[in-house]
Amino acid sequence: MKTTYVSKQPNAAGVIDWTRAENQTWNTLLTRQTAAVQTRASSEFLEGLERIQFSQDRVPQHTEINARLRDFTGWEVEIVPALIPAKEFFTLLANKKFPAASFIRTPEELDYIQEPDIFHEFYGHVPLLTFSEYANFMEEFGKIALSISPKDRRRLFRLFWFTIEFGLLKTASGVRAYGGGMLSSIHETVWSVESAGPKREDFDPLKALRTPYRIDIPQPLYYVLDSFSDLYRILDRNLVHLLEESKELGDFEPLFSPAGEEL
Ligand SMILES: [Fe+2]
Repeated sequence: MKTTYVSKQPNAAGVIDWTRAENQTWNTLLTRQTAAVQTRASSEFLEGLERIQFSQDRVPQHTEINARLRDFTGWEVEIVPALIPAKEFFTLLANKKFPAASFIRTPEELDYIQEPDIFHEFYGHVPLLTFSEYANFMEEFGKIALSISPKDRRRLFRLFWFTIEFGLLKTASGVRAYGGGMLSSIHETVWSVESAGPKREDFDPLKALRTPYRIDIPQPLYYVLDSFSDLYRILDRNLVHLLEESKELGDFEPLFSPAGEEL
């Protein structure tokens, strides 16, 4: 995957100088997304938003986010270039640091951006990083990913994709979203929870490991967790063993045309 964006670097005081236009983009995204998630996001995500209290009219500084995150789970976000090698990504997770690219989408890409920008990283992931189930999952996942080969890592990442990025949750009021991929996308928030278009199946790590995905389309299939605390329990399974099993059983037939790529 190529990028046309460049991360902005903090100055000597640790502050990123966002332009007026960039702050306006954040404001617009935050306003409309927060309206969209009220009836579609999991209650944990909504509570996480309350806990984090993103600034409305400007892009939050990572230093202020970290001051809040530390109180809940000891995690921090770390400013990184737009795209980083997989090994670096997992090393950061294993050390309770969430990599965040510090650029924000252009107004032309307000509705859809393929690359994870700071709105995706902050809005999509930081609220749930205040919960230990989510934060611990990330940390352990990073450690397991580092212990296997780069090729196996790509397959293992499907677990991350179908939970952290595009996970749904069963609730008494129907399915709700907790994945940062859909919760930072106005269209996919609605599509994933309400549309009759995608398939929704019970989460099973072995099935997720056998499911190819594309990064550049609304997901045709979502896996639904029974409860938020089940996220961390995924790691009770022997993931390395499951990975081998998934390779032996082979991939499911993709629900999309073959163009596109997995990360
Ligand atoms: Fe993400």
